[in-house]
Amino acid sequence: SEILRVGVAGVGTVGAAVARLLKRQAKALASRTGRKIVVTAISARDAGKKRDADLSDVEFFADPVALASSNKIDLFVELIGGAEGAARKSVEVALAAGKPVVTANKALLAAHGLELAALAEKKHVALAFEASVAGGIPIVKTLREGLAGNSIDRVYGVLNGTCNYILSRMELERLSFEECLKEAQRLGYAEADPTFDIGGFDTAHKLAILTSLAFGVTIASEAIDIEGIERVTLADIEAAEELGFRIKLLGVAQRTADGVEQRVHPTMVRKTTSIAQAMGVLNAVTIDADAVRELTLVGPGAGGEATASAVVADIADIAKGVRSAPFGLPTATLEKLKRAPLRQHEGG
Ligand code: NDP
Ligand code: HSE
Repeated sequence: SEILRVGVAGVGTVGAAVARLLKRQAKALASRTGRKIVVTAISARDAGKKRDADLSDVEFFADPVALASSNKIDLFVELIGGAEGAARKSVEVALAAGKPVVTANKALLAAHGLELAALAEKKHVALAFEASVAGGIPIVKTLREGLAGNSIDRVYGVLNGTCNYILSRMELERLSFEECLKEAQRLGYAEADPTFDIGGFDTAHKLAILTSLAFGVTIASEAIDIEGIERVTLADIEAAEELGFRIKLLGVAQRTADGVEQRVHPTMVRKTTSIAQAMGVLNAVTIDADAVRELTLVGPGAGGEATASAVVADIADIAKGVRSAPFGLPTATLEKLKRAPLRQHEGG
């Protein structure tokens, strides 16, 4: 029909920004997609909480799973977070009910992305997750569609806004780690449990998603060696600086003779590189590929509006009827590689 009724589960930093952005861009989105996109229902824990968006005409569901299967929506947007519980259940229920899903939840995708993609494929509906990696940077589309004519050798970069914000402010203002983390939380960049950020786990979740897209392999975040930034000190940052380097928390996935190697750890990066120059909440992803050679995308990696930009792009695709294979390959092909997680798909 002409109207696309959107149900949003989770109206915190990202969910509220999505509701605001859909309203602000309503006219442009209608002319770009041919449909009127309207948030008709939401779900959150606290029905009485004041939200950072005008949701006066919107129906409230106390249970996101009930929202996911409601015949009052055409598209389900999951912005709750977490690999299990309400987020997982509601996404499964929405897909099983034949509703397209948009999510920013990298923890969920890292743990269950393949089975959710298989369910979406079986039901012939979209599962879109541009916002799950690198916030506002359209990296999923870049790898899946934009670089379809390339063979990729390496994908690496800064994938966590909170860590980059902390390391940047420690370096530029000599603030303490704790002070910077508090500020990142206040700005809405950090995960509900910031251990995911500073411990490197969020970077690993995102890297596993990128690895699957770039190399045609299954998602395997449990196979990643992870070191976070908790032990990085001001003295380390100063020592790096003296040598012309900066410390960045990098996620790296690269082709090797045996398959694909993935790792996450603080790294000394030469100050003259695009990755080193991405400061604050910015993320930066560099791709080495045979045809395009080297490509770097830099942009806001966290924050409500920037993340909403990616969520709304997915919603617009679905409004237009776009339905890509979530990870770029049929899930049957990825499933076959489950037991040898990091073996490459031939030609991938
Ligand atoms: P917030 O904590 O700000 O918001 C979470 C929302 O989910 C809240 O509205 C909360 O309700 C609701 N919620 C939590 N549990 C339930 C439940 N059981 N049933 C219904 N609603 C529930 O998180 P963010 O907006 O920051 O993050 C949302 C998702 O987006 C996460 O997956 C995160 O990883 C991802 N993301 C976040 C980015 C960011 O910059 N913040 C960037 C990219 C991705 P209530 O408000 O009532 O407490
Ligand atoms: N906590 C995440 C970050 C949010 O800081 O990058 C964006 O995924």
